[in-house]
Amino acid sequence: MADTNCFFSLAILAILIAIFLPLSNGTQRLTASNNSTNPFCRTAENKSLCTSIINGARTWPSATVNAISVTLKLATKGRPMFDDLVKKLPDIGSSRISKDTVGQTCKEIYDFAIECLQGALVDLRYGYKDRLATKLLSVTGPSLECTNAVRYLGMGSQFSNFFSELELYSKTCWSIARAT
Ligand SMILES: *[C@@H]1O[C@H](CO)[C@@H](O)[C@H](O)[C@H]1NC(C)=O
Ligand SMILES: *[C@@H]1O[C@H](CO)[C@@H](O)[C@H](O)[C@H]1NC(C)=O
Ligand SMILES: *[C@@H]1O[C@H](CO)[C@@H](O)[C@H](O)[C@H]1NC(C)=O
Repeated sequence: MADTNCFFSLAILAILIAIFLPLSNGTQRLTASNNSTNPFCRTAENKSLCTSIINGARTWPSATVNAISVTLKLATKGRPMFDDLVKKLPDIGSSRISKDTVGQTCKEIYDFAIECLQGALVDLRYGYKDRLATKLLSVTGPSLECTNAVRYLGMGSQFSNFFSELELYSKTCWSIARAT
């Protein structure tokens, strides 16, 4: 008898969960979709950043283009940092060769980030949504290799700040790109 009761209440619990989960999800979606949040920014972690980089766009393609373009502009601003890196690396404890290697590694990782963003714009134009999402998620993928190397040479923070801001923007682009 006790077993039956227990089974019975578990079954009721399951039904209650089944009824109320979708309801509470629905309510959340409703509050999240009021006028203060653009529909393309509903899943963005940083909604204010998202709203600012879609720049008032009303359609999914234009929201995505705007966001990626702002991100590409941010990335482009970092170029001098990477071009000058070898010159600025301290000599102490590092040979010419290792400085060049670090400089080249960081430059390749930077170029990769730019290529991902430019490629994402091309994928968007051709409607390759999966590739677009993959590129946006890959932008700062290899960045640790650069930031660890420059940190080792005593120049970490500028580069890790750059990459973490770029990552925040790219992830925001990604959430916009999925909101279709
Ligand atoms: C939606 O609007 C309500 C009332 O104005 C506000 O409290 C709430 O934070 C808003 N939700 C979002 C996700 O902006
Ligand atoms: C949202 O904005 C539209 C048009 O600006 C308006 O018609 C609608 O009532 C607003 N909805 C809410 C929940 O404020
Ligand atoms: C959201 O983005 C803005 C602009 O980049 C930034 O200043 C802020 O710290 C971010 N907020 C969070 C919680 O990451």
